[in-house]
Amino acid sequence: MNKADILYCLKSSGKEYEALLNFSSEQKKKHVGNKVYLRGLIELSNNCSKDCYYCGIRKSNKKTKRYNLKDAEVLEAAKFAYENNFGSLVIQSGELQSENFSKRIEHLLKQIKSLSDNKLGITLSCGEQSEDTYKRWFDAGAHRYLLRIEASDKELYAKLHPQNDLHSFETRLKSLELLKKCGYQTGTGVMIGLPFQRLEHLANDLLFMKEFDIDMCGMGPYIEHADTPLFQYKENLLPLSERFELGMKMIALLRIMMPNINIAATTALQAIDKNGREKAIQIGANVLMPNITPGTYRDAYALYENKPLTKSSDDDCKTCIEMNLKGVENKIAYGAWGDSLHFKAKTSAKNLHSLRTGK
Ligand code: 5AD
Repeated sequence: MNKADILYCLKSSGKEYEALLNFSSEQKKKHVGNKVYLRGLIELSNNCSKDCYYCGIRKSNKKTKRYNLKDAEVLEAAKFAYENNFGSLVIQSGELQSENFSKRIEHLLKQIKSLSDNKLGITLSCGEQSEDTYKRWFDAGAHRYLLRIEASDKELYAKLHPQNDLHSFETRLKSLELLKKCGYQTGTGVMIGLPFQRLEHLANDLLFMKEFDIDMCGMGPYIEHADTPLFQYKENLLPLSERFELGMKMIALLRIMMPNINIAATTALQAIDKNGREKAIQIGANVLMPNITPGTYRDAYALYENKPLTKSSDDDCKTCIEMNLKGVENKIAYGAWGDSLHFKAKTSAKNLHSLRTGK
């Protein structure tokens, strides 16, 4: 697909929109099957050194009650994922760069590997780090890493972040390269429906992901948060329903462009439509991340307004997910790591090449 094709699809409506989603759904079935992989989501801490203009847990938001899970709580959640046969978990956190933080994650990874008899797969989503830290975490057992580029256009990126070394577009890109180099299955993604964002930006985001040859993607609609600087542009945003539809188009297009990657059905879709994640799975996504953060901390990890599953009673219960997925003719692959087939194909091709050439 070239840029003009992508733009055409992003503008589609009615029958053409339906056709796009149907085609993507067929591609999903053909290339990755109607299976859904689970990653139990642990939101480790909302302490963050960054000040991104869109994010509710940005450093300068003094209204956010900060928390940091205790190691025992993380391990308890990991045990829950293991015992419930989730197969994998994700540790996500505000961005912190310190030796203490690196050490802590390294230690947690080793403990999770040991309590699950090496059976739980682990994805990390802990932001920009040094090559050494990425390596240490990889060696300790993490094998997938999500780092959203947020916006692949440098100028748009600059409008969403403060202008300083801590928020550099180049560092973000470099971090993605480092993740690949360290051997991670590497995932990225963008927010959809941001202020200043045009359809052309979104088309280029998809081309960026293709060009970077990502293994996984997590992307979803931008949802404004009142205690952030970007909130002032609230009036210029697309209506939520249109942001949702754009999110669906982006997922469908990416599935068509990169048929064997992993694509997550993100929580932001669910924030707009209570069946948003299932709708995304129906048309192309194949990864679901049920929140297994201890209930008491959930409302503090408020990246945007109306984030679902924040109350301790709002569990992503197993039977509910199973039933919802049945409704869209998909089935949970319990106990599986659900690695990116795209990554596996790349790796075997590389191995074959070095066998043949001795390089
Ligand atoms: N709306 C939607 N997504 C957001 N994120 C942060 N703030 C918002 C928001 N206001 C996303 C970012 C980040 C991920 C953890 O959450 O893309 O990478």
